[in-house]
Amino acid sequence: MKRVKAIYPGSFDPLTNGHLDLIERGSKIFDELVVAVLGNPEKDPLFSVADRRKMLEAMTEQFDNVTVDTFAGLTVEYALRVGASAVLRGIRAISDYEYELQMALMNRKLQPGLETVFMMPAEKYSYLSSRLVREIAQLGGSIDCLVPPLVAQKLREKMDVAHKFADIDLDRERAPQDASECKEPERKTKPRKRKS
Ligand code: PNS
Repeated sequence: MKRVKAIYPGSFDPLTNGHLDLIERGSKIFDELVVAVLGNPEKDPLFSVADRRKMLEAMTEQFDNVTVDTFAGLTVEYALRVGASAVLRGIRAISDYEYELQMALMNRKLQPGLETVFMMPAEKYSYLSSRLVREIAQLGGSIDCLVPPLVAQKLREKMDVAHKFADIDLDRERAPQDASECKEPERKTKPRKRKS
């Protein structure tokens, strides 16, 4: 029987709960899934590629068919090198679609045998992005319900160091949130009565 190996390329700077949700979904449909961290020299990353890899490895160790790797250069060439026939990408909202479609079609042009498979993370992660997590962390907001606990810890460490260098008073303690506090907020509005 044909086995399907897929790569899930991305920046993962940092890994979010949305990425993890997608990795779990991908692990269920592919025989092998390689989470591939791009070492992008153009961007100014918050975490080094090595740190991102370590965090991903720690947070995906429960999935037998998931491995983590790093790559540079073209995604299609990396896929070819590791013998993958599919690229997994997440689509959270329509706004992602245009960019993802363009990338998928360009990858198909470069490597016609490589299929891009889009999956949707759980709706509760539809507004979540690494960029927003970085911004919230940098401005002292709580990121505990947005990223795995290990990543939240690493972000706090990084921000504390950054604030010390910037000589900013960090008296306001950012205590880690309890996981049970990460429930979706309840709706305050009462359901409207239907007209009979
Ligand atoms: O998590 P991101 O930053 O949205 O991931 C984007 C990524 C890494 C998938 C994309 O930038 C990429 O594939 N980069 C590698 C270079 C490449 O292949 N560029 C051509 C894309 S059509």
